[in-house]
Parts: sequence; structure tokens; C-alpha cells
Amino acid sequence: MIPTRPANPTAAVNATGHVQLDRTQFGPPDIAPGELKYLKKIGGGCFGNVYLGEVRGVQVAIKKLFKQDLNPRSLQEFKKEAELCSRLNHPNVLLFMGACTAPGEMAIVTELCERGNLETLLHNEKAQLSLYRRMVMAKETAVGMAWLHGMDPMIVHRDLKPSNLLVDKHGQIKVCDFGLSAIKPAHEKLKDKDTIPGTPLWMAPEVMMGRQVDEKSDVYSYGIVLWEIVTQKVPWPEMSSFPKFRQAVCLQDERPPIPDDVLPDIKTLFQLCWHKSPEQRPSFKQIIDMIDALLPSTAINDPEGIELWRTHFPSREYVPFDEFFPIFCKQFNLTAPEPIPLECFKALVVSVHRDNIMEPIEIVNIDAFGALLDNFGPIKAQVKGKTEDSLKEVTIFDRIYRLCKQPWFHGDITKDKAELLLKAYKSGYYLVRLSTTVSGCFTISRVTPSQKIHHQRIDWIPATQTFKAKITINRQAREVSSQGKSLRSFLNNQG
Ligand SMILES: Nc1ncnc2c1ncn2[C@@H]1O[C@H](COP(=O)(O)OP(=O)(O)OP(=O)(O)O)[C@@H](O)[C@H]1O
Ligand SMILES: [Mg+2]
Repeated sequence: MIPTRPANPTAAVNATGHVQLDRTQFGPPDIAPGELKYLKKIGGGCFGNVYLGEVRGVQVAIKKLFKQDLNPRSLQEFKKEAELCSRLNHPNVLLFMGACTAPGEMAIVTELCERGNLETLLHNEKAQLSLYRRMVMAKETAVGMAWLHGMDPMIVHRDLKPSNLLVDKHGQIKVCDFGLSAIKPAHEKLKDKDTIPGTPLWMAPEVMMGRQVDEKSDVYSYGIVLWEIVTQKVPWPEMSSFPKFRQAVCLQDERPPIPDDVLPDIKTLFQLCWHKSPEQRPSFKQIIDMIDALLPSTAINDPEGIELWRTHFPSREYVPFDEFFPIFCKQFNLTAPEPIPLECFKALVVSVHRDNIMEPIEIVNIDAFGALLDNFGPIKAQVKGKTEDSLKEVTIFDRIYRLCKQPWFHGDITKDKAELLLKAYKSGYYLVRLSTTVSGCFTISRVTPSQKIHHQRIDWIPATQTFKAKITINRQAREVSSQGKSLRSFLNNQG
């Protein structure tokens, strides 16, 4: 006989053969006060302090509530809400692991997010968050929100803001702090206040005006969050009075300023999300589709490159080189180069991806591909040949190989590495290196007559198709621009 598992006393099989769970027997894990081990405070908000802790041998976050004296009705409400939260299972929604409901020890236990909250991360200078990476985070937020809005009954967050978006050790977003209104201070109090408490900055006009709140109010808050993700700025830093703020947002339709360099599709998304009429705002499902469509253009400027990534590698941050290369060649009808030029190409675009399980693989990351096209594009071009009216095809492989053969070209080495390399050389020696932060820009590092190393950065401005450099002559700094001249004549003119 085949051994079977012991029958689950809370499960029953219905007439259609589906297993039904008895929800009344499956409450959220109730955690006894003695099981909570508080290790270190890691944050604090308006309804509790958050600690790094340990429960049953696992590291967790424990939010100890300020409100410990819940009346029986609120306690019942809290338990109901906790039950609802414990049924949410989605990778972009913070995992609710249990609650301690003993008076005086009231606390919520959730998974721990090692990288803290998105608000802090967006302003951390050490964080390396490209626009692409940030837009992936924006998408994950929308995915988590779509999950909450898709629940039955629907969960409206009501307090969506960057400090309620946590980031785990893999950089993945987890939406948190929704659905527990019984333990939160009521929003009604805000109307009487003169100063702006934290939350109204993200509050939809209809919420500030005390009208009906629905899921589209979350979409408005998302619009402001998205603006912060893209600009990495604080919204409305100048606003200090709540009545004035409410008037500006609700009556004068004021919204955070959109910088000129924001991609048109992202600008449209801001405007749709924070639209004054809730019904004009998109659903999170629509927002996800819009972000998917624009994601390649946040890392790649070259239209052909965008099209390649959008068609063949949608929603992927990186692709193994072995998969990328044949598709790249086929799409642009390129002949694979000889081994040495191929190595040059790989040196500029490939990185090694490691994980804990599989052996390391060579990959092409979307940001590296975008930078490669900025630095060495276009992929194919017709240039003047040797005779007057002959045309010759030059591919990105040719251009890269020609440059890599130059003894002065060093790829994207750091400033320190350049200094180390030039240290032993006399005045007049130089090398050229690519910018690691702004693609299309490069730096000439040279040894001066006084044996110092001087770094001259040359910026490429795609909008005006010009090179720019800040140079110092007789201790006076001034900016020079190529204004339509070729790079060669621009450099010659600067001496
Ligand atoms: N699960 C967690 N893992 C890691 N850090 C967390 C976790 N939960 C909360 N934190 C940290 O604690 C901070 C405070 O959280 P809390 O929700 O109490 O306050 P807040 O989000 O700033 O404001 P509000 O009270 O309005 O939600 C968070 O911003 C985050 O940095
Ligand atoms: Mg919070």
C-alpha cells in the first residue's frame, strides 16, 4: 500500500474534489511574548519602533506597537487584519510572519529586509542605482500593489511612500505597512494640523479633501513615489504649512517639477498617475505594462539597441553572452569577428555573473550594452571610402578593434589605476579612459611637465551632438564646446 500523509484535520475534500481549508482553524501564527528576542533598534515610525530580532531561531523584524492599550473591539479588529495580512503571499509584499497580541507586548513580526527602506537608499551616495535599476524597483512596487488591489476583498494601502517600501538583500522591493488600520493613528486628525506630518506629501487630493478613498488614491501616491525614484529628490521641500500645501495640490493642481531630461514615457506616467481625477489614473496592472515597455530605454539610448532588447530580451536585466551574441549578429546582419577583435568586444561589454549554486557565467548586462552603444555606436554605419564617392561599411566591431589597438586606450579603468600606470612615465605621456559613470564621456590622463598627473574629462552631450570640457587656463576655469566640430579638431584646438 502506498503510504499517505496523516489526514489534515482542518482540510476537507468537497464534491468537486478540491481541498478546502477551514480558515477559522488557520489564524495568523500567534507568537508568545517569551518567543520574541529584541536585538537592536533599526527604525521608528508613527505607530511603533522596529527592531532586528529573533523568533524561533530565525532573524526577523519586530515592530513593537506604541498603542498597547487596545480596547476589546480594536483588538478584535487588529486580529482580523493580521489574519488578512497572513494570507498574502507575494514576493513583492512584505511577508507577515505573525503577531504577539498579549497586552503590553503587542508586536508584529515580519521578514527582515537587510537593505532598509527605499527612502534612505535613494539618498545613499554609496548606493549604485542606475535609472534602469531604479525603474525595476518602481515596477516591483507596482507588482506588489497590483497584488494587494487584486485581493478579495481588495486591500487599499492608504500609506504608500518610500519609507514603506523595503529592500531585501537581493535589492527586491517589499511593500509594507498596509491593512493594519486598527493600530495606526487616524488620518482625520491631519485636517486640523498646521504643519505637514510625514504622510500628506503622498496623499491624493481627494483624500486630503476628506472624500471617498479608493484604490486610485494609491495610484496617486505611487506617482509621487515614482517621481522620487526617478529624480532622487525630496518632494516639496519648501512646503511647511499643511493648509497651504493642501490648497496648492488640491486647488491649484500643483505637482513636483519634472526635470527636462526625464524620458517622455516616464513623464507621461507621472502625469497619468497623479492625475487630479482618480478615474483617469491607470490601474497598477496598466502601470506594469507601461514600465515594461519603457524599461529598455532607461538603460539604452540607441534606438536599434532599444529595439533589440525589447524584442529579444524583454524584462531581463542581463543575458548570458552565448545567448546574446548570435541574436545580436543576426539582428544586424553582422559577421562574427575574428578571435582577437571578439575578445576586444567582450572586454568592453561582458561581465561575470556569480551565484551560490551555478558556475560563473559571462553575461551582457543591459546597462553595459547601453554604455557600449553610447561609446562605440552606431552598430553599423556607412562612411566615406578611399575614393571620392565610394562608401564603406564600418561596424561596431571594427570601431572597437581599431581603438583597442591603440597603446593609449585603456577602457574604463579608474582614476587611481590611471595614476598608477602613468607614475613611471615622463612628461607628455598620456592615456585615454572611458567614464564608468556617464557613458559616451571619456578622460585624458597625462603627465604634466611638473611630473603631476592631470585628468581632462571630455563630456559628450547627445542632445546637441557636441563635446564639452572644463579647462583651466592661467588659473581661470572655462567651459569649451566643440560646436559641430569633429572630436579630432576639437582636441587639436584645445592644444
Ligand atoms: N521588515 C523590516 N526590515 C527591515 N527594516 C524595517 C522593517 N520594517 C521596518 N523597517 C525599518 O524601520 C523603519 C520604520 O518603519 P515604520 O513603518 O515604523 O515607520 P515609517 O515607515 O517611517 O513611517 P510610518 O509609521 O508612517 O509607516 C522603516 O522605514 C525601515 O527603515
Ligand atoms: Mg512604515
